[in-house]
Amino acid sequence: MLKGTTYSHRAGGYRYFLAGLLLASVLAVGLPAQVIADMTGHGGMIRALRVSPDGSVVLSASFDHSARLWRLDEQSTIQVLNGHDGPVNDAIFLSSNSIATAGADGQVIIWGGPDMRIQNRIKAHRGRITSLAAVDATHLISGGWDGKIILMDVQSGAATAEFDMKEAVVGVAITADQRHLIAAGRSGDIARWRLSDGVRTAKLQAHNVSLFQLQRSANGQRLLTVGPDSFVKIWDLEGFQLLHEYGVASNRRVSASAVNTNGGLLAVGYLDGTVMIVDAVTGVMQRQLQADNGPVWSLAFTANNRFLLSAGKSERIRVWHIDSGDRITLAGETTFQRPTPWLDSPHPGAALFRKCAICHALTASEPQRSGPHFQGLPGRVMGSVTGYRYSRALQKGDLAWNRENLMQLFSQGPDRFLPGTKMPVQRIGNEVDLGNLIDYLEILTRPH
Ligand code: HEC
Repeated sequence: MLKGTTYSHRAGGYRYFLAGLLLASVLAVGLPAQVIADMTGHGGMIRALRVSPDGSVVLSASFDHSARLWRLDEQSTIQVLNGHDGPVNDAIFLSSNSIATAGADGQVIIWGGPDMRIQNRIKAHRGRITSLAAVDATHLISGGWDGKIILMDVQSGAATAEFDMKEAVVGVAITADQRHLIAAGRSGDIARWRLSDGVRTAKLQAHNVSLFQLQRSANGQRLLTVGPDSFVKIWDLEGFQLLHEYGVASNRRVSASAVNTNGGLLAVGYLDGTVMIVDAVTGVMQRQLQADNGPVWSLAFTANNRFLLSAGKSERIRVWHIDSGDRITLAGETTFQRPTPWLDSPHPGAALFRKCAICHALTASEPQRSGPHFQGLPGRVMGSVTGYRYSRALQKGDLAWNRENLMQLFSQGPDRFLPGTKMPVQRIGNEVDLGNLIDYLEILTRPH
């Protein structure tokens, strides 16, 4: 299945979209009293994962007939998208305020508006649709088992062109210049068509085995194809020349793959639950993860490339810190009832602290959450909680946390202030908010 990154967006509009989503989530479910580990909620295997261009929202498509939107930072559901009459095989971000999903029911559904409702339902294929790719905010292509690739206008639902692969289509992609489409067929063929006039400009046998995955590299000049035999081929998109090939893990069957946003890393998931992260150009192994206890069906890198999302047999989405290989699980695996004063405190820093509390316990006596506890902070030496598995970024620090460096940690963002850290939280741009948060942190952690 295709996991390209071909959506376009406007940053400003996207924020508006997010505000709408967040509002919808607060109205719908309120703040979760207890956060559950991993992103759980789907009741069937997850076939596709995408991250929004700004990195804050995850979109998943599942066998349980639904797609879901999730907040990455809280690993919580924003909204369930129910509309298909069968498994949902792919889902993509189209623009700042719309999403497309495609299913085994042959339909493409366009979702949008402030509350993400169905805008259009397009009966695109006879038989299941395997993959989607956005041309721009108003056009997308879908590929299906009926052997067709359909170019459609998402507003009118009209098919503006049809391309015939003559065999089941297993993946589709759009080139970076938005002028060509690429499709992969079940027999191992890949073909390229010009969108403007429908002329097929290339066709070749890419792998001599079926069911491979297309990955467009970030600069758009290269295409990676990953075969089930774990062979990766890198193609020049201009002349469709094979530039390079390498094997990742022999004797293992591939079930998913993803390329990060700068095209530097490739993640390959296997039927046995392992994930290999390799240098996308050379194939040199960077890391191996045991992501699931059965097939890994989908993978996606976060927008900042620091984390990898995986989903598979276990029906949950897991978040992996690539640098350390650690899983960033939000606590909730215990039933421990801890004090949660921040939930009803009038302090102006309390609302922001809710986010921190998901991953940090206040005292050493509470069960450990995904981050270290906050007892003795500020004043505590960086990376000094015994028994906590810090990333290298914090192991080497010997300064004590104080107001000033806590401010820096969040004004610059953890990824800048502590390069390599596994703390996912992003920048807090507003200094007043940040000051309030640290005031509140000081109050909460003050010995009494
Ligand atoms: C999604 C989980 C998550 C959230 C949310 C989160 N953190 Fe963290 N935090 C971590 C992890 C994991 C580490 C350990 C980082 C490492 O080892 O690189 C950490 C480390 C830290 C440290 C360093 C502690 C030490 O012992 O040196 C501080 C300070 C911190 N976080 C503050 C915060 C604050 C304040 C917030 C809220 C704005 C916050 N964190 C939100 C996961 C999180």
